[in-house]
Amino acid sequence: EKGGYAHFTIKEIYEQPKALKDTMTSRIIPGEKIRLDDIHISKDMLTNYSRIYIVACGTAYHAGLIGKVAIENLARIPVEVDVASEFRYRNPIIDHKTLLITISQSGETADTLAVLRESQTKGARVIAITNVVGSSIAREADDVFYTWAGPEIGVASTKAYLTMLVAVYSIALHFAELLGTEETSYLEEIKKEMLTLPEKVAKILKDTTKIEHFADKIHGEKDVFYLGRGLDYQIAVEASLKLKELSYIHSEAYPGGELKHGSIALIEEGISVITSLTQRELFEKMQSNIKEVVSRGAKVMAITYEDNKDVEKYSDEVIYIPNTMDIIAPILAVVPTQLLAYYVSLYKGLDVDKPRNLAKSVTVE
Ligand code: M6R
Repeated sequence: EKGGYAHFTIKEIYEQPKALKDTMTSRIIPGEKIRLDDIHISKDMLTNYSRIYIVACGTAYHAGLIGKVAIENLARIPVEVDVASEFRYRNPIIDHKTLLITISQSGETADTLAVLRESQTKGARVIAITNVVGSSIAREADDVFYTWAGPEIGVASTKAYLTMLVAVYSIALHFAELLGTEETSYLEEIKKEMLTLPEKVAKILKDTTKIEHFADKIHGEKDVFYLGRGLDYQIAVEASLKLKELSYIHSEAYPGGELKHGSIALIEEGISVITSLTQRELFEKMQSNIKEVVSRGAKVMAITYEDNKDVEKYSDEVIYIPNTMDIIAPILAVVPTQLLAYYVSLYKGLDVDKPRNLAKSVTVE
């Protein structure tokens, strides 16, 4: 059932090109408006919402962080993102002018389901992004976006996360089309580029030698840092969770600009820093952050576009990803970080598919 792969986790990482394709086919068609058959929100309804909340747990929450950037940038609607177990207890402002987007691979996460129910009671409309057809969250939501990633067995989410990203980008594009907040040509460009991503992910998966090499280098470490700016920070947060889950190495993700506000005190000789540079506007700023940690003795692994060779000058290892539009780059940039977490786990001889203390579906609060 693992189809020749040693673990479900690596099988699922390699299934990502297909999962992306399945999620996009029939929804993203060049020259046509985005088609979201199970979302019934008109332009009038959308104009009426004063706020959007995206609420989820764990990796699904990390997809939500990217959803916020996508929706705010393309559709210009303010979005707040929160983890379900915090959102519930902070007395959030919810009424009929609220649109809630819940994200859940399993569709059964207790806190996320509770947020859905409580919000509906207060008059909010709920869109569920989920991978499991007929799950509680799918059944109870007003609108659904199924991610069609196929069954995910590995406890650490990989392909489901990538398809959640397709979901949030599709919703952002759909809202932008409804509201006319962006030039059609720009939205078309994003759609066309999204359709190239399955092949680009396949290219990243073709040669993993450099990543395996870096995994070998860091597998004995106690602490690892992830740094990023803009969408590269959201990638860092997910990458850091993946490493924690799969390798039991403590790791933290920081926004590049926050370094000097405290965490740089932890950077010393030999510490590993992992970063991605996909936001062209922020390259220069990120470069100076990398130089700051390198000058304090950090070893740096950077993920960047294949035409950004400059990064080699100040990083120990550079992993190249195919060029793409910055706004959708997370779909590519996260893949090397999944592989890194997987290989570190292998080097440590851990149970990759079922890390200690974790469950695939968290149905208790
Ligand atoms: O099924 P869900 O997407 O609602 O699950 C949410 C989290 O429990 C889940 O993403 C968890 O963080 C994973 N182990 C991440 O790899």
